[in-house]
Amino acid sequence: MEYYSKKIINRFMHPKNLGKIKDASGIGDTTNLRCGDLMKIYLKVEKRGDEEIIKDAKFETFGCGHAIAISDMMCDLVKGKTFTEALKVGYEDIAEEIGPIPPVKVHCAKLAQAALKAAIEDYKEKTKL
Ligand code: FES
Repeated sequence: MEYYSKKIINRFMHPKNLGKIKDASGIGDTTNLRCGDLMKIYLKVEKRGDEEIIKDAKFETFGCGHAIAISDMMCDLVKGKTFTEALKVGYEDIAEEIGPIPPVKVHCAKLAQAALKAAIEDYKEKTKL
C-alpha cells in the first residue's frame, strides 16, 4: 500500500474546505491524545421540516497530512446530509474517495469523526434539540 495516494497528496496540498465558517451553527473541537493533533470542524446547518441538513462544513487541523486530507474529504462527504447520515460517514467511505489509508493513520479518520460528532452536539446544545 502506498503511504500517500495521489488523491491524499492533492487534498493535503489543496484542501477545498480549509478555514472557518462565520456564524457557524456548530463547532466541534477534538484532540488525539495519542499524537497530540488538533481538529476543529465548523458546520452551517439548515432546518428543513423536522430535519437538520448540513449546508456547509469547514475544518482547521493542526496535524499530519492524512488528517488534513481526511478532514477535507469528510467536509465534502457530509454536505447535504442529515445528522444521522453524516454520522455514518466512516473511515471506509473516506478511503473510497481518497484512496487507502494506512492502518497507522486510521486514527486520523477517527479524529475527524469525533470532531464532526462534537460539532453536531454543539449545534444541538445551542438549539436544545
Ligand atoms: Fe495525528 Fe494524523 S497523526 S491525526
